[in-house]
Amino acid sequence: MFSLAALSLRRSLATVVSGNKTSKLVRERLKLEVDKMKSEFSGFTPGLVVLQVGDRDDSNLYISTKLKAAAEIGIVASHVRLPNTATQAEILHSILSVNEDCSVHGLIVQLPLDSVHTIDTELITNAVSPLKDVDGLSCINAGKLSRGDLGDCFIPCTPNGCMELIRQTGVSVAGKHAVVIGRSKIVGAPMHDLLLWNHATVTTCHSKTQDLPAQVSRADILVVGMGRAEMVRGEWVKEGAVVIDCGINHIADESKASGKRVVGDVHYASANERAAFITPVPGGVGPMTVAMLMELLYGKN
Ligand code: GUN
Repeated sequence: MFSLAALSLRRSLATVVSGNKTSKLVRERLKLEVDKMKSEFSGFTPGLVVLQVGDRDDSNLYISTKLKAAAEIGIVASHVRLPNTATQAEILHSILSVNEDCSVHGLIVQLPLDSVHTIDTELITNAVSPLKDVDGLSCINAGKLSRGDLGDCFIPCTPNGCMELIRQTGVSVAGKHAVVIGRSKIVGAPMHDLLLWNHATVTTCHSKTQDLPAQVSRADILVVGMGRAEMVRGEWVKEGAVVIDCGINHIADESKASGKRVVGDVHYASANERAAFITPVPGGVGPMTVAMLMELLYGKN
């Protein structure tokens, strides 16, 4: 039996910050705006190209989600697929021809490249015109973001979606201690920049960081994108923190027909007991990424 004191110490669970709900609202609003734009400027349609090299299953899934969301909103999206035998010169050639196509407003080169050749990914991402680089991966866009020119660059969609989810909580970022785990070019590094230029004090952790639990325990706002299933334990999380989980990992689960299930980088059940706000996986950051991409494409015109 619990004593009264013990019962009063039991805190309630975190508020779940739903990316499904927020992204649906964003997509509904965008559909109305795209319809209005089409009727006002007849014949104009925003265009997106997703360029894929090879045939990775995870990339196929990400791309079909983007194409479906674009189609629902009324954006013309096409999938250009090159074989895994395509040379670097052939990939560059495809990029340059999309750069020159004025019916296309956004170009995504799906990563990682699945090629039998050694391809310089940096060279490829920098070949995308900075004006069409909706992933924000070119040096021009990433450089502007790192300097705080947020209004003059494309911001990568996953961190942009994380910021939107943090906004949904009503917790102000300015002055908070934010901890980002992971320093990838598509998630961790731009997340660091976004939090910094929204006036948080930011610590970015990576594979060489010592005492990760101690770093995590200092976070008022924690954003995790490290690609390790349920690595961040609830015991590490500061009471009342905002926890944003960008992880998408498959783990074995015999209770499922597929034999597996999707989990994030944060151990959800234990973090839920300490955080004030937490994003679920699936249904958190993932759907926001696509919604932010659609918003970027629409906003460009
Ligand atoms: N691979 C996984 N996510 C992404 C993304 O958002 N953009 C690109 N280009 N590749 C990815």
